[in-house]
Amino acid sequence: MFCTGECHMNTNRELLWRVYSQVYDIVMASFLPYQILTERVAASLSPSPGSRILDAGCGTGHLLHYLLRWRSDLEAVGIDFSTAMLNRARAKSKDSRRITWRKVNLNYPLPFSDGEFDAIACVNVLYAVDEPLFLLQELRRVLREGGRLVLVTPIYRPKMGSIFGEHVQQLKERNPKAWPVILLGQIIRLAPSLVVFVAANRSIQKDRSFHFFKEDQLYRMLLESGFRTSPLERVYGDQAWLAVGEKGTKPIL
Ligand SMILES: C[S@@+](CC[C@H](N)C(=O)[O-])C[C@H]1O[C@@H](n2cnc3c(N)ncnc32)[C@H](O)[C@@H]1O
Repeated sequence: MFCTGECHMNTNRELLWRVYSQVYDIVMASFLPYQILTERVAASLSPSPGSRILDAGCGTGHLLHYLLRWRSDLEAVGIDFSTAMLNRARAKSKDSRRITWRKVNLNYPLPFSDGEFDAIACVNVLYAVDEPLFLLQELRRVLREGGRLVLVTPIYRPKMGSIFGEHVQQLKERNPKAWPVILLGQIIRLAPSLVVFVAANRSIQKDRSFHFFKEDQLYRMLLESGFRTSPLERVYGDQAWLAVGEKGTKPIL
C-alpha cells in the first residue's frame, strides 16, 4: 500500500513535528554542529554528476538546499510526512526545479520503483519511525545497485549538553576573542526558540516509542537489511551514529 498523500499520522506526533518546524531553522541556522553534520553528510554522499538523490525525512530541506547549492548537476527528492516541515522546505526553494518535495510516510512502502536513486540520506529520522528495519529495507530497495546510503541517527541516551558543548568549542576555535559576545548574542536572540527546541527534544527522549540504538544493534540492523557498511562513526557532538551503507553483499573494508 502506498501512502503518499494525506498519510495517517498520529496526532501527538503531528503536533510534535509542527512545533519543532516552527523553531527548527531558527535554531539550526546558528548551530555549528548541525552545519558541520550537513557538510559531512553531503561529502559522504559523494554523488557523481547527474545523480538522483533522496532525502528521507527531509524536514525543512536544509541538506538538499545545501547540496544543490554546492552541486548544480544533481536532481533531488525530499520526502517527509509533516506538512509544516515540507511547507518550510518548499518556501526556501521556490526557484529550484531540481528539487521535488513530497509528502510521504516512511512507515509505509515508499512510492518509488526499485533502484530509482543513486544515493540516499536519512538524517535524524530513523529513531522516529515505527519499524526502523522496515525503513532500511525500503531505502535499500529504492537505491540502485552499488548506491550509497548515508544514515545518521542518535546514539542510545544522547545528551543535548554535549552537542551544545561542541557548538561552544567550534565558536571558540572560529572566533578566539569574540566568542563570548557572539554566544551571548545568540542566547539572547534565540532564547524563546531554544526553550521550545530543548522541550521538544526532551519529549522525544522520554517517549519510549522512539528508537535509540547502541552501536552493535544499529550495525546488525544495517547488515540485516542488506547493506554492506563501514564501521559506525560518532558525529554531532558524539551524540549520533553516522553509517555509510552500500547496496551490496560484502562489508566495506
Ligand atoms: C529531527 S527532524 C530531521 C530533519 C532533517 N533530516 C534534518 O536533518 O534536518 C526529523 C524529521 O523526520 C520526519 N519524520 C518523522 N517520522 C516520519 C515518518 N514516519 N515519515 C516521514 N517523515 C517522518 C519529521 O517530520 C521531521 O521532519
